[in-house]
Amino acid sequence: MKPIKKAVIPAAGFGTRFLPFTKAVPKEMLPIVDTPTIEYIVREALESGIEEVLIIINSEKECIRTHFGHNRLLESFLASKNKTAELEMVKELPSKIKVEFTYQEEQLGLGHAVLCAESFANGEPFALLLGDDVYVGNTMPATKQLIQAYNQTNASVLGTMEVSMEDVSKYGICKPIQNETGSLLQLESVIEKPTPAEAPSRLAIGGRYILTPRIFEYLKTQKRGVGGEIQLTDSILSLMSEEKVYSLAIDGKRYDIGSKKGFLEATIDFSLQREDLSSAMQELINTHKK
Ligand code: G1P
Repeated sequence: MKPIKKAVIPAAGFGTRFLPFTKAVPKEMLPIVDTPTIEYIVREALESGIEEVLIIINSEKECIRTHFGHNRLLESFLASKNKTAELEMVKELPSKIKVEFTYQEEQLGLGHAVLCAESFANGEPFALLLGDDVYVGNTMPATKQLIQAYNQTNASVLGTMEVSMEDVSKYGICKPIQNETGSLLQLESVIEKPTPAEAPSRLAIGGRYILTPRIFEYLKTQKRGVGGEIQLTDSILSLMSEEKVYSLAIDGKRYDIGSKKGFLEATIDFSLQREDLSSAMQELINTHKK
């Protein structure tokens, strides 16, 4: 069994929900406190044992690439001023994990974005982390939980969370094989953005996946689905005819950074967790309660 050492992060979308900010700056660069959202995602990959990350961008999003490279000018400035903590902060990540980039110029859907990672995956299973979903794992990072499930099943695993019936139409929804209970379930089917009437459960795909390389064969011929987009979920359904696919309930808290409420919630919670900011944030919350 091949170990999971590679991760893919699609980041080529327009981020229309965060306009006007996203006109010039990618939504992946939205800061939660002082760190771009995508850095939390890359750190989750690193903490899960991933060694190589591929970020899928478009030519308007070069600043994501800049963020993960070395900034020699800044580094020598910080060194000359003896700002060692700041220097370590900007140098640390590029030295710990290999971050590569590829370009997706046409926005044809998540399935199309993932297909751009075929040569990077090079026949190996890989983790897929969507940038709108930021997790704080209870016992370990979300991706690490999925990797453990993959090591147990040797099959694709979809990270899930339970959503309300009203919200099923925003997600890919899983149908476990009947009578199965527990957090790791074999799936019978998946459906992208069903109506509440169509939804086979409330188990939503939460932006974390382990996929076997066989997925690319289905993505290559995948017809457009919901919203006229090439949907990854549709290819995962086809993959199920050939290989087992599992879902794993992620043990942790998820922030939907793609929504303004989720973004604000992350800002509050992450500040409260920070030694240098928790009392200031608590004070702000108390003031505004009055
Ligand atoms: C994508 C996937 C969907 C998944 C969701 C998780 O949808 O297509 O299956 O449930 O991410 O965030 P999107 O949010 O890009 O519409």
